[in-house]
Amino acid sequence: DWTPDSFVEETVEAIQAKVGSDKVVLGLSGGVDSTVAAVLLNKAIGENLYCIFVNNGLLRKNEFESVLKQYEGMGLNVKGVDASKRFLDALEGIEDPELKRKAIGNSFIEVFDDEAHKLTDVKWLAQGTIYPDVIESVSATGGPSATIKSHHNVGGLPDFMKLKIVEPLRAIFKDEVRRVGATLGIDPELLGRHPFPGPGLGIRILGDITAEKVRILQEVDAIFINGLKEWGLYDKVWQAGAMLLPVNSVGVMGDERTYEKCVALRAVESTDGMTADWVNLPYAFLQKTSNDIINKVKGVNRVVYDISSKPPATIEWE
Ligand code: XMP
Repeated sequence: DWTPDSFVEETVEAIQAKVGSDKVVLGLSGGVDSTVAAVLLNKAIGENLYCIFVNNGLLRKNEFESVLKQYEGMGLNVKGVDASKRFLDALEGIEDPELKRKAIGNSFIEVFDDEAHKLTDVKWLAQGTIYPDVIESVSATGGPSATIKSHHNVGGLPDFMKLKIVEPLRAIFKDEVRRVGATLGIDPELLGRHPFPGPGLGIRILGDITAEKVRILQEVDAIFINGLKEWGLYDKVWQAGAMLLPVNSVGVMGDERTYEKCVALRAVESTDGMTADWVNLPYAFLQKTSNDIINKVKGVNRVVYDISSKPPATIEWE
């Protein structure tokens, strides 16, 4: 019978047998899969595991700092790399969603390759690939690993992609990954996190991306997500987030006319992200959240709630 404990025991032994005393590099994303993979590898090989956590500047508010601290607290050998400016520069003026994904993916590869080069004698690249990623030839989810896969045909592979691969979660599903994570003592809050796309807020800012738009969306998103947690709704929702629309609309504040941004809130129920229904959030929650956003976030004067299901609408707007 499969149990998380026997899985951990067997996988730790398998990793030790496979990599021996070699060094291994792994990209942490802040998500469940890469975190559980890292903790397993850490248990197996300790300081020979080198984790890299890249801030692409498109993460949730305070996410880079707080998750990095959490990783350090878990005893991981992790280096945080703040490459926000590099990503923002690469994104300047780009409006097309697929071109944004390419710019973000390429920047990630450059930053990760630079960092991997600073380590000497690394032999292995570890990834948090899980079974559904293996069976879908093109993975829709998963940060660093999905990025890497989609760049195999770029020609002239970055050096870190020539490393041998170790993927300890390859044979298990998401719910099993969470159980393994719990057995390993990982914070339940981290294990219960909503999925978050690799390109982050970059595909939730419609149109071109600027530092100011990222700041606005981070504030809006934080109010929405913290509100879901305070109201006990976070765990009832599969994924939630906010979109910054490329639309200004007229409003009034005091006796002044405003002409500011509109945000759309989205919360969905799903099992795998392939289909999704919008969540019937309580009106009182929506009312409070809308007021908080408009009162607290400078530059936003209108909030709408997305009531589209997938299909035909996708979860993300880009
Ligand atoms: P859609 O918008 O296609 O999203 O309904 C389905 C799930 O996939 C996530 N998603 C992505 N994840 N890179 C990722 O790592 C991407 O480019 C990407 N696009 C969408 C989305 O957040 C949802 O969970």
